[in-house]
This record gives sequence, structure tokens and C-alpha cells, in this order.
Amino acid sequence: MFAYITSLFTADMAIDLGTANTLVYVKGKGVILNEPSVVAYTIKDGRKEVLAVGEDAKLMLGRTPGSIEAIRPMRDGVIADFVAAEEMIKHFIRKANKRSKISKPRIIVCVPHGATPVEKRAIRDSVLRAGARKAGLIAEPIAAAIGAGMPIQDPTGSMVVDIGGGTTEVAVLSLGDIVYARSVRVGGDRMDDALIAYLRRQQNLLVGEATAERIKTEIGTARMPADGKGRSMKIRGRDLLNGVPKEIEITQAQVADALTETFQQICEAVMAALESTPPDLAADIVDRGVMLTGGGALLGNLDLALREQTGLSITVAEDPLNCVALGTGKSLEYEKQLAHIIDFDA
Ligand SMILES: Nc1ncnc2c1ncn2[C@@H]1O[C@H](COP(=O)(O)OP(=O)(O)OP(=O)(O)O)[C@@H](O)[C@H]1O
Ligand SMILES: [Mg+2]
Repeated sequence: MFAYITSLFTADMAIDLGTANTLVYVKGKGVILNEPSVVAYTIKDGRKEVLAVGEDAKLMLGRTPGSIEAIRPMRDGVIADFVAAEEMIKHFIRKANKRSKISKPRIIVCVPHGATPVEKRAIRDSVLRAGARKAGLIAEPIAAAIGAGMPIQDPTGSMVVDIGGGTTEVAVLSLGDIVYARSVRVGGDRMDDALIAYLRRQQNLLVGEATAERIKTEIGTARMPADGKGRSMKIRGRDLLNGVPKEIEITQAQVADALTETFQQICEAVMAALESTPPDLAADIVDRGVMLTGGGALLGNLDLALREQTGLSITVAEDPLNCVALGTGKSLEYEKQLAHIIDFDA
């Protein structure tokens, strides 16, 4: 009875606690919050106080004076800084749950398939301490596939590749569960790092993470342009030879070159998944193709390059950045049918 009454006041929530972005889905409403996973603190007399969370905090990354610290609490898809992660979850829950101060929501969070029991426990505890009445976990690849509208309950093989900020998860699903999954710690962050290293090595130019991400989203490509050059953009950084600011132009060919290794690692993960999949399911995947989700799926020509390398047909999901949150949210809406994949055990 008590549970029924509280459920009238609180809307259950689903959270995609991502390395790069955190999204909150409220049951019956959809995705109502989407912000970078960043927390900024002020440091006064050795004491830390939260200054900003999300969008505002991301603007501070790489631009902070000594008295301010901006942190990304998630690394490689799991919590790296527990205190900051909890602050962040608390902040987002409060923001999404303005309506109800009296009761606590039930919250489902997705976790990478590769998360260890200790990492899962940590995520569950953080969510409970941040104000959830009950915390459920769901495997991220299942959420991604549901969010991308794949028929995961059917007796056919479906392959989903979720390329996030921290990890790429490749999974084969059939009959509503995971047949094979592998998580590689390669994603958008690694692409940014590769661009930073490339510019340092080839151009003696030091750029920050924000600039690297901008290059990737504006002219990033996984495939060498046909004319050997492609589009280009101007970027600024510090000249490592004399320490002064310098502006250069970077071409898509250079970006493709810098991203080669990261792209190859994603390709290898897809091929390894196909090789480890039972033959009949692998045949389904050859027939039906592969679905790409996550922000990394937006990298220019990634679908084409993957098709060329793997011979599989590749589809980018309609709204790749939202798939996991939508899928986690749908698991709330269809909780009865999907009970077997939600882990509510404390
Ligand atoms: N147009 C784009 N081209 C290439 N990369 C992009 C583009 N848009 C966003 N990204 C990258 O996508 C990543 C974020 O994707 P997403 O929100 O799916 O990750 P996440 O869920 O936070 O991470 P994870 O699932 O690994 O925990 C970032 O690295 C971002 O730079
Ligand atoms: Mg993600």
C-alpha cells in the first residue's frame, strides 16, 4: 500500500550514466535531461564545494584557475571519482524530480557489460545514496538495442555496437538476452587523445581536449577522403617549439590518419564478436546487419568504413546519443515483459 501511494507522487527514472554525457528519462515523459558528465568544485582553504554540474561545468574543463577544479567522474564507462559521481547523480535527480520532494523514485541505471561486481555495487550504492528508493541495473548493450528499436525479443541474432565516450560495447542479442558481449575501452575520448597526440607529433602543436573534440565532431572522418585531403578547419593551440599561440589548418585526411588506430580497434571488436557468435546467429547478423549507437556512431563515414572493413551492412541508429537512455527508459515502461533483464537485487 505504502509503495502504491509513493508511486503516485514519484515518477520512476532511468539514468544513462555515461562517461561523456548523463541522460535522465522520467517514466511517462521521456528523456528530460541531457548534460555532460562533469562536476566543477571551488576549493577554499582545502575544502571543496560544488560550483557547477553538467553543461556549465563542461565549459570550465581545461580552463580552470587554481581555485577551481573541473572533474569528469566517469572514466572508461565506470565511476572513477565516487564523491563527484554521487554529487552529479544527486544534482541531476533533483533537477529531473522537481515535482516530488516527499518521496524517492525507483531508478534504473545502465552499466557497461564489462563492469565488475565491485563497479556495479558502486554504481548501485551511489544511486541509492543520491536519493533512490530502489536501484536497478540493466546491461548497456541491451538498453542500446531497445533504444535503437531492434527486435531483441525475437529468436534471431541482432548485433549492436555502442560507441560511447569511454567504451565501445559490441553485443549479440537473441531472445531478449545477451549471447555475446565485449567491452573495449576505446571510444570518443580515445579519438580525442589520438588527435592531440597526432598534432603534437606532426605539427608540434599542443591543443586541449575541447579543441580535439571540436575537430572530431566538425570534420572527423573514419575514411581517407577520395581527393586525399577533404575539408579542413582552422584550429589554435600552443606552438611547442617557441611556446606561443599558433593557428594551423587541419584536413580530414590528417584526421583520418590520426584516428586509424582507434577505428581499427573498433573493427577488431566487431570481427571478434562475429567470430565468437554461434553460426546460425552469425548468419542472422550477416543478413540483418549491425546497428551503431552512441555518440561515436556520428563520426563521419564510420558506417562506410566499417562496411568496407567487415563486409557487413551497417546502420546508424536514428538518435545515437539517446539510444541507451531511451532503451533504459523503455525497460521501465515495459518492466513486466523485461523483468528478466533488470537487476533490482540490492
Ligand atoms: N558528430 C560526432 N562525431 C564524432 N563523435 C561525436 C560526435 N558527437 C558526439 N561525439 C562523441 O560521442 C561521445 C559521447 O557519446 P555518448 O554520449 O554516447 O557517450 P557516453 O554514453 O557518455 O559514454 P560511455 O557509454 O562510454 O560511458 C563523445 O566522445 C563525443 O565527443
Ligand atoms: Mg553510453
